[in-house]
Amino acid sequence: MKKKTLTIKDNRNGKVYEFDVKDGSCGPAVADLSSFYEKTGMFVYDPGFKSTASCESKITFIDGEKGILLHRGYKIEDLAENSDYAEVCYLLLNGDLPSKENKKKFINILTHHTMLHEQILRFYSGFRRDSHPMAVMVGIVGALSSFYPEKKYDFSTNKGKWVAVSRLLAKLPTMAAMAYKYSLGQPFIYPKNELSYSENFLHMLFSTPCGEYKPTKASVDALDKLLILHADHEQNASTSTVKIAGSSGANPFACVAAGVASLWGPAHGGANESVISMLKTIGKEENIEKYIKKAKDIDDPFRLMGFGHRVYKNHDPRANVLRKYCHNLLNEVDDFNISLFKLATKLEKIALNDEYFIKRKLYPNVDFYSGIILKALGLPESMFTVIFAVARTVGWISQWKEMTESENKISRPRQLYNGKDNREFVKINDRKNIQKMFPLQVD
Ligand code: CMC
Repeated sequence: MKKKTLTIKDNRNGKVYEFDVKDGSCGPAVADLSSFYEKTGMFVYDPGFKSTASCESKITFIDGEKGILLHRGYKIEDLAENSDYAEVCYLLLNGDLPSKENKKKFINILTHHTMLHEQILRFYSGFRRDSHPMAVMVGIVGALSSFYPEKKYDFSTNKGKWVAVSRLLAKLPTMAAMAYKYSLGQPFIYPKNELSYSENFLHMLFSTPCGEYKPTKASVDALDKLLILHADHEQNASTSTVKIAGSSGANPFACVAAGVASLWGPAHGGANESVISMLKTIGKEENIEKYIKKAKDIDDPFRLMGFGHRVYKNHDPRANVLRKYCHNLLNEVDDFNISLFKLATKLEKIALNDEYFIKRKLYPNVDFYSGIILKALGLPESMFTVIFAVARTVGWISQWKEMTESENKISRPRQLYNGKDNREFVKINDRKNIQKMFPLQVD
């Protein structure tokens, strides 16, 4: 078969360069520009990685134009409808859905590593009482690396990788629930082995020593679906962060802590928290037009949170599934959450018919409805991104594992340098008209 190539001509000197074109099993082909600098002496400029495929992967496929999300070839809608979170974790990590027997073994392993070392519990009391739970999570997940040091666990072996994978998956819900309990000033609730992953998570979040929390089926289902829908999303900001950290050979628990930090931002996992604040600010249907106008105003920093996506330009399939589970769950909850949901659906309808959003292909993303589900489950906004982090841990660690099993080079992007060239050093007494320091103001 004829080799596929891309030819690039440098119009400055007429030189022509050829690069291999590689086809994936689905999606756009890639031009292999890894020798671009070697051949042309130039770097490839792509801030925000809008056109960059950073790796080969077999885990998740997204077609943003058609609104398709596949995990190991399975449609996200089918997984959400027919599977559970533990199965999806197994699928992402192993490539296939588990047999009955393997599922049982996998759940057994996850269940038997949910407890934290008692020493870790002491870390919590070092955090300010009013800390954002994501701040606590960045610290506590990072602290796990000291309990699983490279000296003891060789993370380049299958055995070492499995320790990282199983402990992270099993312990993240416990850590998240404890971050919540700490913010409330309530005693930590220990995991219960007889419960499913999502039931146990709800138990640790909402039970107290005075009373056992008995979640409804709709709550367990909604949380489980929410975890499935957030489990992985190919090379997004936090996953890329985990992999960049991991590319240096860093401890996987520390790499996942880096992923938690990256997820926190409002343009990424922090958007679910911002959606609820936005809906509360909008308050009632009569105000929607005013806020749509603000979102469209280039001079106004207000954006419709939960709208738009770097990849999805048609619809986010995860948002469609969540809208459905929102309906089911809201049948059981209070008027406040129902009014938020009504406001959200109205806002979605108006925005989807607005020329500005149509032209820019801005559709509701997964975070538009996830906040409403989490609110209906009884969680405060500050916990929303924490739940996202728990769900995404499997994606981070599956992608980290895949990276370590392939030819792995340290991630080291280059830059277009636009600063000063070669200045002569000026001794302190000879320095004149030096600009004011920024951002440090010396008063
Ligand atoms: N409201 C109003 N205008 C928007 C919005 C929005 N939510 N999102 C994008 N735009 C406009 C943007 O101003 C720009 O307009 P113009 O072409 O006139 O300059 C155009 O649409 C393209 O936007 P962009 O910022 O260049 O797109 P991006 O791919 O860099 O950003 C995004 C994607 C998700 C960061 C952005 O859409 C956004 O900030 N959305 C709100 C935050 C949000 O919901 N984030 C959750 C993402 S999904 C969960 C996850 O995977 O983490």
